[in-house]
Amino acid sequence: MSIAGVQPKLIIHGGAGGHVKSKEGAIIVRQALHSIVEQMYALLLEGVSAAEVAAEACQLLEDQTMFNAGTGSVLQSDGQIRMSASLMDGAQQRFSGVINVSRVKNPIQLAQALQQQEDRVLSDYGAAELLRELKVPIYDPLVTIRLQEWMQEREGNFQKAMAGVIAEEELVIAHEPRKGTIGVVALDRQGKIAAGTSTGGKGLEHIGRVSDSAMPAGNYANEYAGVSCTGIGEDIIDECLAAKIVIRVTDGLKLPEAMLRSMQESKNRERDLGAIAISHDGAIAWGKTSEVILAAYHDGETIGDTLDWQDKDDKLIDFKTTMKDKG
Ligand code: GLY
Repeated sequence: MSIAGVQPKLIIHGGAGGHVKSKEGAIIVRQALHSIVEQMYALLLEGVSAAEVAAEACQLLEDQTMFNAGTGSVLQSDGQIRMSASLMDGAQQRFSGVINVSRVKNPIQLAQALQQQEDRVLSDYGAAELLRELKVPIYDPLVTIRLQEWMQEREGNFQKAMAGVIAEEELVIAHEPRKGTIGVVALDRQGKIAAGTSTGGKGLEHIGRVSDSAMPAGNYANEYAGVSCTGIGEDIIDECLAAKIVIRVTDGLKLPEAMLRSMQESKNRERDLGAIAISHDGAIAWGKTSEVILAAYHDGETIGDTLDWQDKDDKLIDFKTTMKDKG
């Protein structure tokens, strides 16, 4: 039990898409997510604010090369990496973000730095200026498998709608349509909520395309709830998903019902997306219209996750019923 009255809660995600194709792949994703949840939940118990934990957890997820954010981001159609990230402090109801920023290790750090500024959302040129102002070192977030993925698509003249969510050879993700983004929602000991989201984008997209991840459609929080989305940005924007779920909770709906209703509407319109959320009463929820959302959480008692995988016969295996330990 925590020192203050409110029990902290935490949920993070590493994208949504098709089922992971092997147990080994699922274990790699699981270990990465569980380790971050464990470290970040300890900070919440120490009294670190939701906004700080959301930013730091996003940074750790960006540093995981398997996820499509920060290092390991997908390449756009012209072979360049452009990343977007946002942070929303629910207590202040304050949104900040960067859109299509390049040559930086942790885009979420820029979003965090912008929280205190008057102009709080900066796009490509402005974000690059901010990098210089903050004296953030130049960094190349490219990993080989993402370059190979782009080269392969280039051979075929970019027929694929998007790149893979996970850049991990063992996971055999090539040609599997997946939608990458990372995200975090935290409830701190003060009862304050924050949400952070970061992405390399859809991958192979038109230059200048703007992701949902640095919009209130993809990342939103207030004093009642926080939501981070993943999936096809255009679908998330059309649903205005994160803000919609938060407003439903603000207007009195319980979070599980708000999530369910919003997912049902998305499904009816054949959207391809997922979301994680926490509400002020401590409820944790996730939802998806895609096959899977790669999420893990701490509910105050224990760490859990949403992971499963397909075995070689395409049978779906639920992690929770087969893994006795956390390894
Ligand atoms: N949800 C990430 C993107 O579509 O850019």
